[in-house]
Amino acid sequence: MKIRAAKGLTFDDVLLIPQRSSIASRQQVDTSSPLTENIRINIPIVSANMDTVTETAMAIAMANAGGIGIIHRFMPVDMHVKQIKLVKRAQAVMVENPYVISLDATVVQACEMMKRNDVGGLIVLDESRVVMGIITMRDVNLAPSDREFVRQVMTGRDRLITAKPGITVDEARALLYEHRIEKLPVLNADGTLKGLITSQDVLKPVQNPFAALDEKGRLRVGAAIGVTRGELDRAAALLEVGADLLVLDIAHGHADHCIKMVRALRQQFPQAQIVAGNVASREGARELAEAGASAIKVGIGPGSICTTRIVTGFGVPQLTAIMDSVEGVSESGRDIPVIADGGIQKAGDIVKALAAGAQTVMIGSMFAGTEEAPGSPVIRDGQKVKVVRGMASLAAAMGRRAIERGQDESAEDSEDWMKVVPEGVEAVVPYRGNIGEVLHQLVGGLRSGLSYGGAHNIKELQEKAEFIEITAAGIFESGSHDVKRI
Ligand code: XMP
Repeated sequence: MKIRAAKGLTFDDVLLIPQRSSIASRQQVDTSSPLTENIRINIPIVSANMDTVTETAMAIAMANAGGIGIIHRFMPVDMHVKQIKLVKRAQAVMVENPYVISLDATVVQACEMMKRNDVGGLIVLDESRVVMGIITMRDVNLAPSDREFVRQVMTGRDRLITAKPGITVDEARALLYEHRIEKLPVLNADGTLKGLITSQDVLKPVQNPFAALDEKGRLRVGAAIGVTRGELDRAAALLEVGADLLVLDIAHGHADHCIKMVRALRQQFPQAQIVAGNVASREGARELAEAGASAIKVGIGPGSICTTRIVTGFGVPQLTAIMDSVEGVSESGRDIPVIADGGIQKAGDIVKALAAGAQTVMIGSMFAGTEEAPGSPVIRDGQKVKVVRGMASLAAAMGRRAIERGQDESAEDSEDWMKVVPEGVEAVVPYRGNIGEVLHQLVGGLRSGLSYGGAHNIKELQEKAEFIEITAAGIFESGSHDVKRI
């Protein structure tokens, strides 16, 4: 047995000492940061892989704002793949696999397909997959009733405006404008379909200049995976459809099976970005870094819905956990980022986590109340609220039991729910409107924080940071006090 002499500190235990600043405007600072070894995002904020926080809508909104969402893993693989695909299609300058239909399909079939997939047009192909035309909802709606087949209603190849692979966004915009059209099929030299550019797609980069994009101009998105049998197959399927990173979702990441999984993933997918965790110690971070992780996720029990520390007695206050893990990564000799996961309740907590050495933060419950989080708001005691639940809560365990049973009989979570020992709770959080507004406040706070830190960017914030430990009186003084809030 050993007792560590130093105190464990968390966000509210400290403040940052203001530093001399040459920053005249908050717009001058750079909020971009590495998420993993090879991926940089424009705001250092990640939405948590929880089933009440991140699915498609949240992932799209996060990436559009410059951060990223990690889609949780508590769904069958095909649904997980579909969600990643939807994010990837949301803002590609060119959609790679647009919806297509054959010449001989009926107009009714075309209409159904457009409605089912929520698109306004389909590319018409012959049996050799050569493009023969395009059919849009407008064609369907205006078609005389005796025109039954797609070939009779579509805009045929002779009148179709098309582009060649390699067309730039500006060239595409000019063509769409010149011909006053909404859709521009991109054709290979042999006339087969390469992709589709829509007017919405060329406008989005202008609307979201900060968006986190991959090398093909698509929104970035991550996906969580577990360590049980079959998860390597899930990983392969997710990477195949373009997931930018995989996040190993394990409560206690400093464990043999987690280290083994990192090695297995690294061996099978040498180029993949793999986030490993969660850990809260120098040794844990070092060993996962040595096993080949591309980033380390830190946090044992700081989350608002976590009861791990109460139930097991284990955990490290989050600020100390971040500092220790950063040291552990550095001991490994690898230059990979740390993600501070859990316990972020205020913009100032983000600034403190970054100043302590994390490169990004992961947020759960603060985002669970937004419009983009899964689930609808409900009224509780006259207030609009949304539900958030710990992924180790009883409700979450019961909810996913059927899915896991179906997929993997050996899954350790598939025991009778009566025997589950929860390490998380289910709760409600106030409804907060769109995530964009919440992010605006958080990023605004971060920009101000960088300016108080005399830092033009997050690296400089870390280099100059000086924390001071405060007392309960200091905490009291830090909030609004001695006034009646209205
Ligand atoms: P916040 O504070 O942002 O934390 O809501 C989100 C993080 O909490 C972790 N998490 C859990 N931890 N029991 C735990 O001990 C749980 O049931 C649980 N569910 C989520 C997770 O790391 C998440 O990102």
